Amino acid sequence: MFKTATGTGDPSPAERLGLRKESHPTHQQNPREQQRVQAGKDAINFNSASTSSGWCSNCECKDSRCSSSTEVEKQTGGQRVIHEDPSHKGVIHLQQLRQNFTAAGDEGGACTEGQRGSQRPRLILFSVAQYERQHLKAANKKFGLELVLRHDRLTDRNVHKAKGFRALSCFVDDDLSEKILSQLPELRLIAVRATGTDNVDLNYCKKKGIKVLNVQGYNPTAIAEHAVALMLALNRHVAQAHQRAREFDFDLKGNVGFNMKGKTVGIIGTGQIGAETALILLKGFGCKVIAYDIKQNENLVKEGVSYASLEDVCAQSDIISLHAPLTQQTKYMVNAESIQRMKKGVMLINTSRGQLVDTHAVLEGLKTGHIGYLGMDVYENEKKLFFRNHSGEIIQDDLLARLVTLPNVIVTGHQAFLTEESLVAIEQTTLSQVYDWLNEGGPGEKRKSKL
Ligand SMILES: NC(=O)c1ccc[n+]([C@@H]2O[C@H](COP(=O)([O-])OP(=O)(O)OC[C@H]3O[C@@H](n4cnc5c(N)ncnc54)[C@H](O)[C@@H]3O)[C@@H](O)[C@H]2O)c1
Repeated sequence: MFKTATGTGDPSPAERLGLRKESHPTHQQNPREQQRVQAGKDAINFNSASTSSGWCSNCECKDSRCSSSTEVEKQTGGQRVIHEDPSHKGVIHLQQLRQNFTAAGDEGGACTEGQRGSQRPRLILFSVAQYERQHLKAANKKFGLELVLRHDRLTDRNVHKAKGFRALSCFVDDDLSEKILSQLPELRLIAVRATGTDNVDLNYCKKKGIKVLNVQGYNPTAIAEHAVALMLALNRHVAQAHQRAREFDFDLKGNVGFNMKGKTVGIIGTGQIGAETALILLKGFGCKVIAYDIKQNENLVKEGVSYASLEDVCAQSDIISLHAPLTQQTKYMVNAESIQRMKKGVMLINTSRGQLVDTHAVLEGLKTGHIGYLGMDVYENEKKLFFRNHSGEIIQDDLLARLVTLPNVIVTGHQAFLTEESLVAIEQTTLSQVYDWLNEGGPGEKRKSKL
């Protein structure tokens, strides 16, 4: 299920467990801890009715809808203060506040889960969405790590929050370039809570002995089904029909679709997700499926999928679905030239990575009618946009702003993976992977006692 994205050797256990160790598995407060907790309670009592101003030092997102937590801790003149933050709706849930504060680790500024304030190995997690929290908590019951959950994505602006941590977990839009990583000399492990690691500078990690882990194959079904959902929604004009229905406009003009049965679908990249998509279309819809991959999947061939060159797949397909990873070879594999090779009116689906597609060229293709439909769950410039609410802002991305005006385009914000089943698998896999790394393998119970 897991893959080591770098081939780096493991650091020694002592090095790894520079992450702090706990001497006893149950949570025991030492005198300093008790003092800190009491100070925290006092601070809560002192501040509970006050309203401080300033942006959220917790996630720095400046987003009024941010739900990373309702409280922030601040170090003011050596005294811990908890203050209300306007970016968190101006609400302090005292009960939760107390729990979180008394539970918080020394680094402050973030919501901490697990056996807190303990000497347990600490993992800082960036880009933790609200919907992930319950799954992380549930998964961590088994591992007992001290989790520092942050809503904000890792950037140059907040990289200081990760200083001192040896283990860090991120999502697809966190910035783990050399510029960021070079500011984290203590970092030894990056656990990406996703399949793609293209946001991590793997060469730098290899050079510095930072192990990079990702979650592979956690739920290819989810992404495959989303790709098919986009195909059907585009083909049968579901979005427009629903929009009209809301206005009681039941005119069917423009809503003519086509049968999926018998159509030729080209799958580019027939790994786990591509293969699952191919089988849904082949067996569920009776499509003819052709594929391009640098490595042929023999099981698919047995099922009736035929492989062809990229040029032929482009030329013969009514629908093209992209499932190759982003690499130097696949970047902009859909471009002005390859679009010209495609059938007029082709449907293009991208649930893989935005940079597989030259979006400017695709927009041109849509404008001329050469591309008949576009379904995209990923976008080449998604980093500053996706996973956050930008409604009410002046959108600077003219390309995406233009695309979403087109009736034959559906954009979803990198949510193909997002099912309950995926979340359970991602969080469990990530934490178990970190746990294994910390404890260098061996039976679970033995490892547990090492903590
Ligand atoms: N939208 C989402 O929510 C979401 C979620 C998970 C994964 N993804 C994307 O889906 C991609 C595929 O995931 P997967 O689990 O199927 O990966 P995988 O590794 O199982 O499959 C990738 C396939 O692409 C092939 N490939 C590699 N280079 C190629 C090239 N130059 N041309 C054609 N094919 C090539 C590989 O041989 C392999 O068969 C991931 O890399 C990720 O970018 C998106």
